[in-house]
Amino acid sequence: MKPIEDLRQRRIRAQLGGGEARIQRQHDKGKLTARERLAVLLDEGSFEEIGMFVRHQSKDFGLERNRPAGDGVVTGYGTIHGRLVYVFSQDFTVFGGSLGRSHANKIVQILRRALENGAPVIGLNDSGGARIQEGVVSLGGYADIFLQNTLASGVVPQISAVMGPCAGGAVYSPAITDFIFMVQGTSYMFVTGPDVVRTVTQESVSAEELGGAATHASQSGVAHVVCDNDVACLLSIRDLMGYIPQNCEEPPPMRPTADAATRQDTALNDLVPEKPHQPYDMLDAIQSVVDDGAFFEIHQDFAPNLICGFAHVSGRSVGIVANQPAVLAGVLDINASVKGARFVRFCDAFNIPLVVFEDVPGFLPGTDQEWGGIIKHGAKLLYAFCEATVPKITVITRKAYGGAYDVMSSKHIRGDLNFAWPSAEIAVMGPKGAVEIIYRKQLTASSDADALRASFTEAYRDKFANPYIAAEHGYIDAVIEPSQTRAKIARGLQMLQNKVVTNPRKKHGNMPL
Ligand code: HXC
Repeated sequence: MKPIEDLRQRRIRAQLGGGEARIQRQHDKGKLTARERLAVLLDEGSFEEIGMFVRHQSKDFGLERNRPAGDGVVTGYGTIHGRLVYVFSQDFTVFGGSLGRSHANKIVQILRRALENGAPVIGLNDSGGARIQEGVVSLGGYADIFLQNTLASGVVPQISAVMGPCAGGAVYSPAITDFIFMVQGTSYMFVTGPDVVRTVTQESVSAEELGGAATHASQSGVAHVVCDNDVACLLSIRDLMGYIPQNCEEPPPMRPTADAATRQDTALNDLVPEKPHQPYDMLDAIQSVVDDGAFFEIHQDFAPNLICGFAHVSGRSVGIVANQPAVLAGVLDINASVKGARFVRFCDAFNIPLVVFEDVPGFLPGTDQEWGGIIKHGAKLLYAFCEATVPKITVITRKAYGGAYDVMSSKHIRGDLNFAWPSAEIAVMGPKGAVEIIYRKQLTASSDADALRASFTEAYRDKFANPYIAAEHGYIDAVIEPSQTRAKIARGLQMLQNKVVTNPRKKHGNMPL
């Protein structure tokens, strides 16, 4: 056989992975193969493979007689929207995608290259975990990957898709990365599986309940985005890449739009209901303000009282953090604080300006929250906004009460532009609670406490339930008509585009974990 023909044959064999039957089994489960996934993820024809002929060197348990080319992971680079990305895609048809020494070396090499060349890395995980026959060297392989993930953190964006099993210590590579995507029905993640759980705690739970996509999207918050199938997941990752830069030294990409920066939406003038306790949907405000109504939400089903996600305003990528008055009145609790803090830190690490929509009655009271550590978890969000040096624009739509006012990117913690709608109420606390405290003696002594309470409440509301006292102090830069919010944010972002603020030199801060 001519050498070139030999090469072609070798390639064909390598591309077959574990063979036709196992590929069929993968398809029967509704899953794509490792290579099919890369074909959907990357721009057509852009994939360049690295390490197609790498094989394992193990000589135990009969492995020496089965040495498939590629060793169960397809690695290389390609482009998404024309921009370089590094990729690895585990091949479940080869030893169940399990991770041995050579397999790990291939992933480590991709992570190193991504770091050296300043480009994002996307890992598609579908693996039975440590390759049992290879023993401790696969544990070493995992640790090598965890180290590279950690070194790359904050330098290049790292995205993980969990598209099959991901169990044991293997979960910690995705966990260190910036975003985890999961596929409904075919992916699961857990540190110990249902059998171990049953033995140790006598709990009976299915793999899906314990660590399926829905569980991690809504209960644990481990998954940031959940998709219906492999193709939807890969297209969603492509979408996300449109908002984020190549690395921490670069700005995020501009997205040209025909949506005018000066576009006004008069419907926003009536968005906030007259009654202070009546809910409304903050997503209406977000979708009205951003380019073409396009909003990429992160953690949609986890702590929905705080909305986080990416959008563009006048072509510029922004990270949006917004209280959601339609859920728990938009209160900040433990989950919302952790969710927001992680998102703010990602945006700050990757030069994505922050836009905050604020309507927050405060932190959630109760033993659950206090004993669960709302003090340290709430401090995470505060810390994240304080340390962030990217442009920060806040729009207070209604309530900005108490500590939550300070936390939600107030000017005191280096918010650059803080706008308020005329419906804003900026105060230490809501009128009812305030009146009970400051007029306690008068109310107790009064023969008509209800009438007195109503009149005190009215007086407090008149004084504080507006944005003008904060504006007098310069805590609000401008009180704006809601319809003009998009234009104000667009101009603000333009004004702040060359902002340079640096934090004091340090090894690293000690954020409250
Ligand atoms: C070697 C493995 C493997 C593994 C699967 N295979 N997992 N080979 N090491 N870890 C092989 C199977 O032998 C089988 O080979 C093929 O992959 C497909 O597996 P099936 O079991 O047929 O597939 P399925 O029924 O879909 O079940 C998938 C599975 C199951 C749930 C992942 O294979 C499984 O439970 N595997 C073991 C998981 C595990 O305990 N891993 C170690 C976790 S500890 P053939 O030749 O028959 O097709 C760990 C520690 C990491 O990962 C620590 C990091 C710090």
